Amino acid sequence: MAKSSSLLITFTASTIIVLSMLISSTRARASAGICYNSIISFGDSLADTGNLIRLTSSNSPPDHFFLPPYGESFFQHPTGRCSDGRLIIDFIAENLGLHLIQPYLAGKDFGEGVNFAVAGATAIDDSFFRERGIHNPFTNVSLGTQLGWFKDMLDSFCSKPSDRKKFLQSSLVLMGEIGGNDYNHALLQGRKLEEVKSFVPAVVRTISSAIKELIESGAVTLIVPGNLPIGCSAAYLTYFQSSDKDDYDMATGCIKWLNKFSKYHNKILKTEINRIRELHPHATINYADYYNAAMRLYRSPNKYGFKEGALTACCGAGGPYNYNASVPCGYPPSTSCDNPSLYVSWDGLHLTEAAYRWIARGLLQGPYSTPPINRICIPAPTSAGLVLQY
Ligand SMILES: *[C@@H]1O[C@H](CO)[C@@H](O)[C@H](O)[C@H]1NC(C)=O
Ligand SMILES: *[C@@H]1O[C@H](CO)[C@@H](O)[C@H](O)[C@H]1NC(C)=O
Repeated sequence: MAKSSSLLITFTASTIIVLSMLISSTRARASAGICYNSIISFGDSLADTGNLIRLTSSNSPPDHFFLPPYGESFFQHPTGRCSDGRLIIDFIAENLGLHLIQPYLAGKDFGEGVNFAVAGATAIDDSFFRERGIHNPFTNVSLGTQLGWFKDMLDSFCSKPSDRKKFLQSSLVLMGEIGGNDYNHALLQGRKLEEVKSFVPAVVRTISSAIKELIESGAVTLIVPGNLPIGCSAAYLTYFQSSDKDDYDMATGCIKWLNKFSKYHNKILKTEINRIRELHPHATINYADYYNAAMRLYRSPNKYGFKEGALTACCGAGGPYNYNASVPCGYPPSTSCDNPSLYVSWDGLHLTEAAYRWIARGLLQGPYSTPPINRICIPAPTSAGLVLQY
């Protein structure tokens, strides 16, 4: 970033807003057909780049995600990302010519975006699950909590309405994936499918009202991912292991009824997105098809550089899918495979950097985002980028 031409305006002793005339970098991005100045992200472990790790108090035992070998393939140390390396959001940021997006709780330099995603977060408020006796083992953060942080951030760093508008208009908003944990915790704690299915309308309503709130604040370009095929996850395959061959998809080995449930959520979400599009025709709201972007890797692992047996986790403590809920990746005696880039599944619930790279590519270049993210260009309101920092 061209910091030399920055104009510094001090609002308070602790808050500095830097308006940078990012002429060189904006030109470079414009020539590549990309016009975003920043990414604003909400979500769960598929997008958390370091919030949960900062929420966890130092005297409690660390979640397994915060131990080696997490991060080994790219960062060489755990960063709070639930993978061996970069996530979809990291690949999108790189492709748009941005630095990796800062987690909100790291609290510095949000000029190229801010990430509110928290591993384990649900869309619906935590109290909904507590009332039903469903336990969230990781966090009580919900999408509502993340929206609260978003408003705090705008109030602190972007108090002038015109700055706020510029910042939001030139940002790509990633709304999710969120909602997966609203089902994961319940299903993996033995709740019946019918009960969990009854949560879907409330989950989608929560995501929908967050989208509307963002648009009303000034966002004009949003990407809304659907759920991954949970029936292909080693955690689900282990928990719902069945002797009935009809439960399994012959071609992939995934559990059909679980994938059908992911598709059900995605269908309701897509219908809702269509409704919001009609209400807000000036906004671009893209559905990101994580389901099919991942399914192609399970269907043809070799074609994408993965080994056969794409359902087995790289890091785990044995069992038919190398997943054992009582010994998750990171805790002894779990072990990690030699080459994570040959695996789709990292730890049984999350995917490897190699798989996330393919999913990101499918969104950036198509066909799993229509139009492809690379080709949505926000009419830049100004060539001035906004750098916000403490
Ligand atoms: C979440 O947990 C934290 C720490 O225990 C607590 O301070 C906070 O009030 C809780 N938030 C909600 C929404 O329950
Ligand atoms: C999971 O790990 C625990 C602890 O090592 C072990 O007792 C148990 O048998 C394992 N379960 C499976 C299914 O391998």
